[in-house]
Amino acid sequence: MRTLDLDWERIKSVLEETRNPEDVVRRLEPREAAVALPYTDCTDPLERLRRDPNVGTDPLVTVLVTIHTKVAEKVEDWAPLACPDTRAAEELTGEAVARAKARFLRDRAGGRECLDLCAGIGGDSLALSEHYSVHSVERDGSRARALRVNARLHAQGEVRVLEADAIREPPTGDADVAHADPSRRGARRPQETRPPATRLREILSDLPHLIEVPPATETRPGTVVFSRAREVRAVCWTNLTDGAAAVVSETYAVLEGTPEVPKDAPRPNRVSYVIEQDPAVRKARLSTTLAEELDAYPTLVPGSESLLATTGEPPEDPPDHVVRVVKVGEEGEGPPTVRSIGVRLNRRDVARLRKSYERYDVVYVTRAGKLPGRIVYEREF
Ligand SMILES: C[S@@+](CC[C@H](N)C(=O)[O-])C[C@H]1O[C@@H](n2cnc3c(N)ncnc32)[C@H](O)[C@@H]1O
Repeated sequence: MRTLDLDWERIKSVLEETRNPEDVVRRLEPREAAVALPYTDCTDPLERLRRDPNVGTDPLVTVLVTIHTKVAEKVEDWAPLACPDTRAAEELTGEAVARAKARFLRDRAGGRECLDLCAGIGGDSLALSEHYSVHSVERDGSRARALRVNARLHAQGEVRVLEADAIREPPTGDADVAHADPSRRGARRPQETRPPATRLREILSDLPHLIEVPPATETRPGTVVFSRAREVRAVCWTNLTDGAAAVVSETYAVLEGTPEVPKDAPRPNRVSYVIEQDPAVRKARLSTTLAEELDAYPTLVPGSESLLATTGEPPEDPPDHVVRVVKVGEEGEGPPTVRSIGVRLNRRDVARLRKSYERYDVVYVTRAGKLPGRIVYEREF
């Protein structure tokens, strides 16, 4: 694969020394510069390279800029990452989310050896290598080759790469924990991923595991949602949480545990409109479940608030659901601090809430008296 035949060590060492686009172009061959420029603040790498007479019309320069523009959006420390094509770049797990997933495994399961099935070009393997000795399995030859380069460039610990089919040749060995990230393109259900997440769960059932599933998957016990920049970036199945659903937001806060009635919770007033502000919770379909219970329908406007409006007149009896604004960033046992409860909203309120609660991570819509009980992770700034 010609997109991989480059001097990656040289590109890395230049990027470590400078992120100035002109220095990068001066110090690297055009194809290497095509890889490196997207990791700098150059606004139009292709235009910059075409000004160079040596570049001419080299089609590989265009391809490399396209691939690495996608990769660079997802990485901070891991520059550059070898990547054979744009599809692999699209499937790459972003650095921050990969690290949140790896920390989740380390904190919950510990252990020393980790299996990473369907490892692609290695976003998750690299993050896992910060805590584990990693055994990565990838079926595609060019991705496995890129992963070997990336492990050489950026892994913190040992990463062994096996080019193999994870289902036909399920790896055996001494793994203490496992991660799997099957291809999800076009899949809406866990059995439709390639390989099926349901099959991976069978194979990994004896190990503590984290398996990515399509974001549309129904939330069930053992679902973890990892979000960043207000977007869901990974929805996973795990056997490491027995709470209803854990949400790892971009702040790495995790809400989980047995529901409890907060002692001083006031009874809610009638709520005609409820807002689910946190996109992770929204996309994890908790809102949909709520809507069904409330006999309400969700009005979803892409890119804006999701309001749940009750159908017809507000019911005679106050609904058993409230909006709670929960302060995240505290640690320890017991219910988290409820900042607000039973908020009744109109559109102006929504805009005001958005503003005043932007420092809070989660606006949690729950049944009255039910609230996740324990905050596990500390906020990271
Ligand atoms: C979503 S990508 C993984 C991305 C990866 N986590 C990363 O950060 O680069 C899914 C990968 O699963 C691989 N794959 C699909 N079926 C497989 C199988 N049966 N055995 C091993 N790998 C497989 C694909 O080639 C693809 O690279």
